[in-house]
Amino acid sequence: MAVSVSSEFHIPGTGKRARNRTVLAAMTNKQSEDDGTLSDQEIHWLLKRAAGGFGIVTTAASHVHPSGKSWDGEMGVWGDHQIPRLEELASGIRELGALSLVQIFHGGLRAPRSLTGQQPVSASENLENGVDEESRGLSESEIIDLVGSFGEAAERCERAGFDGVEVHGAHGYLVCQFLGTRTNRRDDRWGGGLEGRSRFLREILKEVRARTSEGFLVCVRISPEHEVGVSLEDSVELSLMIRDWGVDMLHLSCWDALSGSVSESGSPKTITRRFKEEIGDSLPIISTGSVWNEADAEFVLGEGADMVGVARAGIGHSDWASNLGSGDYDPDRPPFTPEHLLEQGLSPVFVDYMRRWKGFVTDGRQ
Ligand SMILES: Cc1cc2nc3c(=O)[nH]c(=O)nc-3n(C[C@H](O)[C@H](O)[C@H](O)COP(=O)(O)O)c2cc1C
Repeated sequence: MAVSVSSEFHIPGTGKRARNRTVLAAMTNKQSEDDGTLSDQEIHWLLKRAAGGFGIVTTAASHVHPSGKSWDGEMGVWGDHQIPRLEELASGIRELGALSLVQIFHGGLRAPRSLTGQQPVSASENLENGVDEESRGLSESEIIDLVGSFGEAAERCERAGFDGVEVHGAHGYLVCQFLGTRTNRRDDRWGGGLEGRSRFLREILKEVRARTSEGFLVCVRISPEHEVGVSLEDSVELSLMIRDWGVDMLHLSCWDALSGSVSESGSPKTITRRFKEEIGDSLPIISTGSVWNEADAEFVLGEGADMVGVARAGIGHSDWASNLGSGDYDPDRPPFTPEHLLEQGLSPVFVDYMRRWKGFVTDGRQ
């Protein structure tokens, strides 16, 4: 029988308990200071979601090294100067009853010189639409250094009081660039078959584990399918490998968790179910994408997810999670007025960013 979205979840191996099955998925919001430090606005936006009842609150993607910064206003966890404000956020989230995760990442080929002062780096030389400059492939010693940066970042997050980190292996950023056959054309131990392409992620996880304590929650987010050359078949296999790498939770970034996979011929199964059938209960799953109301959330849990993530519904409704329970919560959908979004705890900068998301803000892109 499917679990209820309102039921608590004890995350195996961590001693941590989420008060319900909801996760505020990572959302870039452009509100951080130029040196990656959290701003008042960013802390406010996230604390409002902790107050709004989410089980887990995840920060925006946060670069682990200055060379990995992909956009203005991006949160960073690469320096000790960032710790005081991280502490403020972590303790605030805890006091409001939620668990906290920092999403750690590096932009790779999508970290432009204009922000980093250097040529973008990736698994191989790559250029994609919308990127100004071709990346160069990282050297062996640079890869090892970056693995260290992920570990240091996780250690910093634990010192600041966070419950854990989510390693961002999704959406075409550096970890995903290593996983993808199109962006990783290396012929050394960091490329080739899935074992080689996933070595970067495995080494990151080893380093994170070595630098943090046993109960620290380590989650990995992946795109089950991605145009950088990530296939559903490989991702399912990767999830079985990840299980043995000391990971506590797997986060599937589905974009649409309500319908079947497009690429698997003849099978209309949802991505969540596809993974659940392979990994069973051995690795808890968070699944995210297009969940708007309580029925959607219950559906995703019914497909085998242990927790369900939301992003856009959580922007529009800060108290989304605490409204669940009646069975028929179905909040208003976009477009939202700028006034409504400001009331929901977004700053003008974040509202402006949301104007770029099709159909989200009444006076934004339609
Ligand atoms: C404004 C915005 C910013 C996002 N930033 C991130 C991010 O930093 N890291 C990430 O993994 N996903 C990011 N995403 C993707 C979301 O976490 C989520 O997977 C996606 O929006 C689908 O969920 P939804 O249908 O509930 O919005 C972002 C989404 C939005 C709307």
